[in-house]
Amino acid sequence: MRIKKIRLGNKEVMPFTIPSGIISTEASSLERLAKEIPEIGILTTKSITPEPRLGHREPVLAQYAQNSFINAVGLTNQGMEEFARSLDRLKIPDDKFLLISIAGTTPDEFRQLTKKLSPYADGLELNLSCPNVKQGGLQIGNDSRIVRETVSTVTSLTNKPVFVKLAPNLANIVETAMAAIEAGANGLTAINTKGPEEYKFEGYDVLTNKKGGKSGREIITLGLSCVQKLADNFSNIPIIACGGIFSANDVLAYENAGASAFGIGSALAMMKDSELRQYFSTLIRDLEDGTNNTSNLIKKVNMEYRKFRVTDRYDLADDFHVLVMDCSFEAQAGQFLFAWLPEKGEKPFSILETTPLKIAFSEKGCFTKDFAKLKPKDEIYFRGPYGISPEIPKNSKVALVGGGCGIAGINLFAENPNIEQVFIGAKDIDHLIIPRKPNDPNMLFLATEDGSAGHKGLVTDLLSIYHNADFFINCGPEAMVKAAIEIESQLTFPERIYSSIDYMTRCGVGLCGSCANEQGLRTCVEGPFMSNKK
Ligand SMILES: Cc1cc2nc3c(=O)[nH]c(=O)nc-3n(C[C@H](O)[C@H](O)[C@H](O)COP(=O)(O)O)c2cc1C
Ligand code: FES
Repeated sequence: MRIKKIRLGNKEVMPFTIPSGIISTEASSLERLAKEIPEIGILTTKSITPEPRLGHREPVLAQYAQNSFINAVGLTNQGMEEFARSLDRLKIPDDKFLLISIAGTTPDEFRQLTKKLSPYADGLELNLSCPNVKQGGLQIGNDSRIVRETVSTVTSLTNKPVFVKLAPNLANIVETAMAAIEAGANGLTAINTKGPEEYKFEGYDVLTNKKGGKSGREIITLGLSCVQKLADNFSNIPIIACGGIFSANDVLAYENAGASAFGIGSALAMMKDSELRQYFSTLIRDLEDGTNNTSNLIKKVNMEYRKFRVTDRYDLADDFHVLVMDCSFEAQAGQFLFAWLPEKGEKPFSILETTPLKIAFSEKGCFTKDFAKLKPKDEIYFRGPYGISPEIPKNSKVALVGGGCGIAGINLFAENPNIEQVFIGAKDIDHLIIPRKPNDPNMLFLATEDGSAGHKGLVTDLLSIYHNADFFINCGPEAMVKAAIEIESQLTFPERIYSSIDYMTRCGVGLCGSCANEQGLRTCVEGPFMSNKK
């Protein structure tokens, strides 16, 4: 297949995108994709609503069959005002088409969104198909009168291309598309996820929202039949196809069905940025040469829960606990896991010990308060491990720096023979976990804010005096990590400083994009320990 660019408005761009809500949900990740992946011609944003939305409580994503997912993210986004501010700072190259996805509950909300965001966009995609919201989404898509009103409201306010995103399970997808096109839509995107549907594990609803929309491998047949129906009825309208595209053959199948651009989302689960680059360049070569090498690049995704039983708990302080489980959990230093309490929620945790599994945590929000109620014999589910272990060069001298719960995050590194020094800080002796000791016990440095153990003050006070390392691993509260990096930057190269800062980690498999750092890197697949290298 010769790759045909797609003409959208006054731009001609490569016909590939990552569909809305996947990976590039933060402005920093959009900018990164724009710079790093030449094959992506259309940059589709997360669906933006007038007001900020927290979305649903985790779990928001589950894998119901290999490479097939069900999600109920619930349109988490910062709202149009904040998003517009982030777009002000965004640099999008001329050879990319910025497609801003918007989601309102009424035509008036779409009016506000268009007025605010159209000036930044090359085109708008109206999400009339989200299965995970109480108002708007699918309800609008199923009512041709509101579709007409919504689309004509938007098209009367902008002369940029307007795409309407359709759900596969609309009562009549052709009727909805007809209403949109008659009201001035210039293109269609199909399909959104299939839902709302349930997914249970051992009798429990996995998604806290109970129902979600299905994506990935299992929905391709449905996606193809929707695109075929749309192309049969609207031959001159461009269609961005998404839904289960994994390989060049899938792209060809959608092209034969009538699509002119292709969105690849779920197929990219677990891929780091370097792997995304390789995936897209291989896809192009596969399409040009008739090969099928992308299939080897798809990752096996492990989201399966395993049931554990609590055997012990230690209450180190009123709000600080260690739970001990009945089994071991295979993981490397630096990796993390998710703990799931059915009907309560799910959160990521560092692994204090693997054999048996031990988790240290402080009570901060609703989930950890429920977690803190667990007692011996109670059951709990874990999935993982996720993330990667930083590679520690053989002849380096390594210092570990941990604060608060971050001590749990560095404990597994202490086994490494290169560990020269361990710096630990907490607010008082009750919140201090003494990690495995370095070879020389004199190289363990303790600090507490109230002076109840070790130095009275901050762990970084000790680091600045006693450091004797050329490779650093930091884990703890953001302020501590930033202060540690400042000291360490004067002692070694940025690529020898690894730090873990708590970003919002929701899916762990690289899809939801919520864990992106300031450089647009998703810390769940590239980290959580990220080098300080820019
Ligand atoms: C985690 C996740 C979040 C999503 N968020 C949105 C969204 O905000 N807006 C939207 O129109 N579609 C959203 N979708 C649907 C995708 O854009 C896409 O239509 C769907 O996943 C099918 O493509 P795929 O099988 O390649 O993943 C989301 C899908 C996933 C998996
Ligand atoms: S992409 Fe979802 S948590 Fe990282």
